Amino acid sequence: MLSVRLLNTEYKTQKGPAVRAAQDVSFEVPKGKFFTLLGPSGCGKTTTLRSIAGLERPTSGDIEVSGRVVYSSRNGVFVPPNKRNFGMVFQSYAIWPHMTVFANAAFPLEVRKNRPSKQQIRDKVMSVLSAVALDHLADRDATKLSGGQQQRLALARALVMEPELLLLDEPLSNLDAKLRDRMRFELKRIQRDNGITTIYVTHDQGEALALSHEIAVMNEGKVVQIGPPRDIYDRPKTKFVADFIGTTNFIEGQVQGRDDSTQRWRIHTAIGDILVKSDAPFSAGSKAAISIRPEDVELSERPFTADAASNVFGGTADTTVFLGDFVDVQVKVGQAMLQSRSHPSLRASDGAALHVRIDPEKCIAIADDSGVRAG
Ligand SMILES: Nc1ncnc2c1ncn2[C@@H]1O[C@H](COP(=O)(O)OP(=O)(O)O)[C@@H](O)[C@H]1O
Ligand SMILES: [Mg+2]
Repeated sequence: MLSVRLLNTEYKTQKGPAVRAAQDVSFEVPKGKFFTLLGPSGCGKTTTLRSIAGLERPTSGDIEVSGRVVYSSRNGVFVPPNKRNFGMVFQSYAIWPHMTVFANAAFPLEVRKNRPSKQQIRDKVMSVLSAVALDHLADRDATKLSGGQQQRLALARALVMEPELLLLDEPLSNLDAKLRDRMRFELKRIQRDNGITTIYVTHDQGEALALSHEIAVMNEGKVVQIGPPRDIYDRPKTKFVADFIGTTNFIEGQVQGRDDSTQRWRIHTAIGDILVKSDAPFSAGSKAAISIRPEDVELSERPFTADAASNVFGGTADTTVFLGDFVDVQVKVGQAMLQSRSHPSLRASDGAALHVRIDPEKCIAIADDSGVRAG
């Protein structure tokens, strides 16, 4: 549906070289899918989205929507933004004051060159207002809406033109945490019910994991990994991705070789040998980083049953924080400090001796180039 190929967008600067904000960005989004550009501030998410919208003119690449080329450097095509028919909602969405909710949502249709009839406008507007659950507030002054309602109105205004593609740039970031959580569900529902292909930009990994069919993680202008949320979380290809998506423990080590009895890689680390299941093409002697999520660091006051095929260590509880539905423990294993998220039934106090087990299946081994590779 949307195809972005080798997109490069630069900003000229007064002095010094141009900022290469998007570098060889490529991805495909099938019709009806929710696709997210995720990465830290300044990594080029907004630039990529604005290039798709036609608000920035790329230096090279191709952008195609439903088979229609809207930008191509090779063929000299640049379709202006108002001819692309995309819906857009930005972080700083603007609701027009002194207008009702209805009038706000109807505005894009009212100013259209071939304006629909009054009845058509009424039908379209009421249908999008009901999609965002604001139909009962159609006659209210728009400024009297809550933050979340205003955000839904901005969404309705983007949807009323029946765009082929919906572009959302951090649309929830101005809302408070509770409302943001609720709006996530709303967004997911609206996107699903309308089957509208959506490109979403956020720096919030939780939001990206919750909403997306697929995520492109960006860093320094480049896409570093593309995949479904679960793959990105469970199988990060680089330390950057593992670190950016959620909390993780990193343990550096050296690859010893494949363990014949378990068919797993044995990696020598400061806390002892760790067995790791991995498809990565390691070779003996090479460096590796092992990423372990806190929820995969199992703790027990009693010894685990001896099992040659798993990673069991002795440790000491350093700091324990009870959080209600779980307990976070910093556990010292040798010279390393591991972060664990455990069930609240664990009653270890600070300084207590603990047994630590890490399932080899839950260890993510990353070839330690520390660099960024295309996904
Ligand atoms: N109009 C501009 N002029 C010059 N540099 C810009 C402009 N907009 C963005 N940049 C730079 O381009 C890079 C990417 O920015 P942006 O796409 O806004 O990142 P993100 O949305 O991921 O935070 C940053 O280094 C930013 O400073
Ligand atoms: Mg941005």
